[in-house]
Order: sequence, then C-alpha cells, then structure tokens
Amino acid sequence: MYNNRTKINALLTGDNIDFETTVMGWVRTFRNNQFIAVNDGSTNNNIQVVIALDLLDDATQKRITTGACIKATGQIIASLGKGQKVELKATSIEILGDSDAEKFPLQPKKHSLEFLREIAHLRFRTNTFGAIFRVRHSLAFAIHQFFNDKGFVYLHTPIITGSDAEGAGEMFRVTTLPIDGTAAKNDDGSINFKEDFFGKSTNLTVSGQLEGELAALAFSDIYTFGPTFRAENSNTARHLAEFWMIEPEVAFNDLEDNMNLAEEFIKYIINYALVHNKEDIAFLAQRLEEEEKQKPVADRSEMGLQQKLDFVVNNNFERLTYTEAINILKNSNHNKKKKFQYLIDEWGTDLQSEHERYLVEKHFKKPVILTDYPKEIKSFYMRLNEDGKTVAAMDILAPGIGEIVGGSQREERYENLVARMKEMNVPPEELDFYLDTRRFGSCVHAGFGLGFERLVLFVTGMTNIRDVIPFPRYPKSAAF
Ligand code: 4AD
Ligand code: MG
Repeated sequence: MYNNRTKINALLTGDNIDFETTVMGWVRTFRNNQFIAVNDGSTNNNIQVVIALDLLDDATQKRITTGACIKATGQIIASLGKGQKVELKATSIEILGDSDAEKFPLQPKKHSLEFLREIAHLRFRTNTFGAIFRVRHSLAFAIHQFFNDKGFVYLHTPIITGSDAEGAGEMFRVTTLPIDGTAAKNDDGSINFKEDFFGKSTNLTVSGQLEGELAALAFSDIYTFGPTFRAENSNTARHLAEFWMIEPEVAFNDLEDNMNLAEEFIKYIINYALVHNKEDIAFLAQRLEEEEKQKPVADRSEMGLQQKLDFVVNNNFERLTYTEAINILKNSNHNKKKKFQYLIDEWGTDLQSEHERYLVEKHFKKPVILTDYPKEIKSFYMRLNEDGKTVAAMDILAPGIGEIVGGSQREERYENLVARMKEMNVPPEELDFYLDTRRFGSCVHAGFGLGFERLVLFVTGMTNIRDVIPFPRYPKSAAF
C-alpha cells in the first residue's frame, strides 16, 4: 500500500499524540534547515515537520523547496513551538516531486488575485483558494443534502439541447458542420442543419428548467444541479460564460411556496458552511477585513463576513413587488441627485444592478425578494397575473452581489402559454414537447434557479466570480 498517510487536518484536530505516522503534501516553507511547513489541502493549517540537523544529507536538504512534494514519517508529538498543538518529528523524509524554487511561481508571500488568476492551475495551493474551494465543495454537498432530505429527485438535464429555455438567444452553438463556408445550404441560403450531427440546430443549455418541468409533473419535486452556458458578452465580476446552476421545480407550489422554499434553501446551505467550514470562513473573513481596510471608510461594509452570514441565516428576507421597488427607487435621494447611471423614471424599465444593490445594501440592508415584474422584461414561461401586465416572477437579491436567484410560478394554462410564446417570438412548434405538459394533466407549479458561483461569492466574501470557480470561462478567456 502506497497511500498509508494520515491527513494533516486529522492530525491537527485530533487528540492523539506520541504515535508514528506518515504525512504527504507540499512544502509551503522551510525555515532554519529544521522546520518544514507541509500542507496537503485538507486544511489551511500546515503541519510542522521537524528534522534533526543530521537527518538529511546536503543534497536532499536542498531539494526541500516551496512547492516540492514530500513524504515525511515520524513521531507525532506535542509541539514545543507556538502556533500548533502537535508537530511531526521526522525519522525519514522522501522527496516525491521536486520543485525548482527559481521557477515556481508561488512564493511564500502575498500574491494579487489577478496574478493568481493567470496561474489558476496552481492557485489551489494558496490559503485563499484552498479555503474558497473547500467552502464551494461544502455548499455543493449541502445542496444535495437539503433536497434529498425533502424527498426531491435529482434530475440530470441535457447539456446539449435544441431549445433556448430563456428565449434570450444567448447560446453557444454545438455543431460538427464545417465552419469554412462549405456547410450544406438550404434553397434560401440558410445552413441545412439536417446535415448536422443531430440533424437539427443544437446548442449548449442555458438552463435545465424546461426539462425540469417535464419531470416535476411526474415526480412532484425535482432539482437539477449542473453546468449551464451563456454566450452573453458580459465582462463583469458577476458573469461567467459557464456557470453552475441549481434549479428546483415543484408541482403544486405557487409563487409564495416558491419564495419560502428558496429562502429556506439559501439559509440551510449557508448555515451548513458556517457549521462545517468554521476555519475556512474565519480565514476568508480575516482576508476580507484586511481588504476592506484599503478602502475609504465610507465604502467599507458595516458587517464582517461572519456577521453578514449569521445575519442572513437569522433574519427574514424582505419581500416586495417590482412596483413597490420602483417607487422606492424613484423617490430615493440617489435618483433625485442623479447618482444612478440609469435614472428610474417610469414603470416597466428593467432594474440594473446599481438599482438592485441600492435596494439591498442601502435601503433594506438585507436580502430582498422582488416579485411580480412587468411581463415584457421576463421570460415567456412565467405565469401571467390577474392584472394582465405583470408575471409571477421572483428575483432574490443579495448584499454585495445583486441577483442570486431568478424564478417564477409557471404559466400552467395552455392557451395563455401559447399566447405568451407568440408575443415573445418563441416558436410554439419548437417546444411542442413542453406544451404537452400543459395538454396532459397540467397543474400549478413553480421553480427557481440559483447561480452557484454567486452563492459561493456571497459565502466566501470574494468579489470577483472568476475567483470562485476553478477554471473560469468568460469573453476571450478559456485557459486551462
Ligand atoms: O435568472 P436566470 O436567467 O433564470 C433561469 O435561468 C431560470 N430558468 C431559472 C429557473 O427558474 N429555473 O438565471 C438564474 C440565476 C441568476 O439569478 C444568477 O444567479 C445565475 O443564474 N446566473 C449567472 N451566474 C453567473 N454568470 C452568468 N452569466 C449568469 N446568468 C445567470
Ligand atoms: Mg434572472
């Protein structure tokens, strides 16, 4: 057996001392030719490996450099030094993988996030990204736990589809046709997709919702959790071209049930991370605090990360309609003093992220659920309200992030749905399978989509979405 090591987290958090064991991991620092700080990713804390001055020959000692991978065997003893409970008194050290200190890009010092993004393949080996991706893992696990405990079925919706679930036309095409202009054409000059791999035009999914609805009208409660793709040219700290989305869809839920589920869900998963990732969240909170100190006092956030997360878990989200929100924004001093880039003057305009953030960060100072948006600015599948002007939509806005959830009660009435599709230029014949659910045993149902990376941003206190997904994809960038 090769892998007979003990994980560093287990050694540092356990109560046992005075036993022999082996650790394997990567060297963070090597001090005084005696103290090696070794990390294996199970925690941000390193184990101190102590080597007697005569244990290693000179040549081996020189190979203990930042980034090198080593195997250390020895006795776990109570630590004599400060800062750690136990240390490993080495009886043997083996270099598993050398790392040229001159060339290894990560030095034991603070690197900028921009620099680390360029070496995203190595940034896992830093404390910040170690903490972020362990938290990301926990959140993903908690999501499955939450829905499994409630009896939801985890549904795998297709990555390659022929439909545009959002009707927004922001899709990446999937094709095996030649792109040099020689693809077969129809009489009218358009591409003949009958010749394509799937015999039709296909794209990467923008959302699993439509397929999710098909399953919800059989299992009652389903959720999806998978990658989604948007070819929107948004070069912002909140947008990715490839992101992960969680989409529950529930038969017999109306808009209020939908809001209740979303709020309970968000609180549950944040709380899970608070309980299971104490050290990592404390580390990220400290990081954020230091970053905040660089800002002018007026721009600093009132709460630290830990406080903010506790607050969200323990307080109700504010719920109001789009119309109420527009009135608040219109009458705000911010609007009157023309501090918004896009001034709010009439009902019906879409909210920009500056407006969402004003509501959440300045006005309510807590997460907000906005409902009942004008039908023109929302998707075709949302249920038309009695007023004929608004739809049963809901967006959840989070402090520091803006929109984190988008959802709605669905239009379950066949005639209404077809009429809305025509209004929004979504060809009903292309979604005939979807319309079948309205033809055969339709029912009230609702669902939402949570952007996973936006949630991870919120929980880690990071500010750029490219730092919370291992290998970010965004306009002009698909490295690694
Ligand atoms: O609001 P969206 O577009 O809603 C849907 O896709 C619905 N089909 C969901 C549903 O009802 N089942 O996207 C949902 C969420 C947004 O609130 C946001 O958090 C995230 O997905 N999102 C993105 N995250 C990162 N990068 C992007 N380009 C994103 N676009 C949306
Ligand atoms: Mg949305």
